[in-house]
Amino acid sequence: MFIDNREYIKALDAAGELVTINQEVDWDLEAGAIVRKVCEEKGPSPLMNKIKDYPGHRYFGAPLASYRKLAISLGLPPESSIPEIAAVYLERTNKEPVKPVLVDKSKAPCKENIFIGDKADMLELLPAPMVHEGDGGRYLSTWHFIVTKDPDNGDVNWGMYRQMVYDGKTMTGNLLPFSDGGKVFHGKYKPAGKAMPFATVIGPDPISAIAASAPAPMPETDFAGMLMGKPIELVKCETVDLEVPAHAEIIIEGEILPDVSLEEGPFGEYTGYRTSPRDFRQVYRVKAITFRNDPITTISNMGVPTDEGQLLRSFSLGLEMDKLLRSQGIPITGVYMMPESTHHLVIVGVKPIYTNIAAQIAQTVFGSKLGPWFHMVVVVDDKCDIYNFNEVLHALTTKCHPINGIHIWQGVGTPLYPFLSAAERTNSVGPKVLFDCTFPLNWDPMSEVPSLVSFKTVYPKEIQEKVLANWKNYGFKS
Ligand SMILES: Cc1cc2nc3c(=O)[nH]c(=O)nc-3n(C[C@H](O)[C@H](O)[C@H](O)COP(=O)(O)O)c2cc1C
Repeated sequence: MFIDNREYIKALDAAGELVTINQEVDWDLEAGAIVRKVCEEKGPSPLMNKIKDYPGHRYFGAPLASYRKLAISLGLPPESSIPEIAAVYLERTNKEPVKPVLVDKSKAPCKENIFIGDKADMLELLPAPMVHEGDGGRYLSTWHFIVTKDPDNGDVNWGMYRQMVYDGKTMTGNLLPFSDGGKVFHGKYKPAGKAMPFATVIGPDPISAIAASAPAPMPETDFAGMLMGKPIELVKCETVDLEVPAHAEIIIEGEILPDVSLEEGPFGEYTGYRTSPRDFRQVYRVKAITFRNDPITTISNMGVPTDEGQLLRSFSLGLEMDKLLRSQGIPITGVYMMPESTHHLVIVGVKPIYTNIAAQIAQTVFGSKLGPWFHMVVVVDDKCDIYNFNEVLHALTTKCHPINGIHIWQGVGTPLYPFLSAAERTNSVGPKVLFDCTFPLNWDPMSEVPSLVSFKTVYPKEIQEKVLANWKNYGFKS
């Protein structure tokens, strides 16, 4: 596994998943446009070695925007299938948490350059890109995480919450109140009138980024350690009582102010739209900036699928649902959330052993901490391959009764849903829908349940085997 992004970049290169760009690239839209096109074409990640106005700085775009890259980041062969990657992720994250270790500053590359107080000016020091035309400003933090601590129990949180450069010493962001970092800020620091210390980590190793974007059921430091198979190395910050990964590229330290808000946004979002308007949001005041020599700023470009936000959020949200449903004893066969749905749609396979099991599944996942981020559940039976979209679509269009099989609820939603009215978004309204694609259990299997007509279901085993064994002899290529 890779201790930092630089090792990971080398592995991407070796697997043909990197393009090194040595001609100058403009931070103002050009870099963003390159990354967007890479996402839409599922192409290799660009490493941009020369950035206009910022000599010595580099960009690394679309770091994890495909399953091939996800497999590489986890130390698996690039051609691993989605179920194979999912099995490894589940196996590692179902073990005991792996606590981080603290290293000395002399062993922390992120301390190679240190700027404190007035010298810590983001506009001067860091090449924040203008990611999309129409964004409200330059977004420095698009593939990063923000470290915070619960003041009561000391629990550390790593969350990926976007940050826009407001001026050289200030960032603004959308710290949603149902995120883990948001709960601590809106529920504890703000009511007490206290500033919340933060440290933004830009260019973390890929495993730490995966952990930070996941709905981890524990401090992400420990979750990253489980995925990594060894403790993450942390180092103390210069001006706040927090620790950050020692091998990260760039660290920004400071405080989130409790009593001030400033304008942020709009921004091209993961839904593939620019939904939330410019508004008054959280204010991050910067106290220090530290970075490695020749620092590499990571850029994720959110928009229509598939960027790493959609891919990894789908992957980890789906697998946390898998754990949750199994923990409730529900006989699921698996869970797959489609990145192409911008993590709005989840497919759950189940052995339907009792009536209304689909409703129980939907209520469990919608009612959980994961609920605000998605609104469509499709439940299929155990004969359907949840990873095969053709099979799922066939089940949806043939087994889901339009009146009896579709159920709707009102729940909690994010303010980023494009189909909600402005008033609904402000009030966290989150309509939810279940498509139950299982046949009713009280139908007689012989006379009422229609038989599926497919190669796998209507031919005797020996005929299937004979045809498969002779497939090439018949003249078929694959
Ligand atoms: C690229 C990216 C940007 C995100 N931006 C935000 C954001 O601005 N605000 C927010 O509350 N969540 C945002 N999220 C979602 C959180 O990262 C996600 O909820 C994650 O699980 C946060 O960790 P938490 O469960 O510790 O809150 C973003 C996710 C990604 C992948």
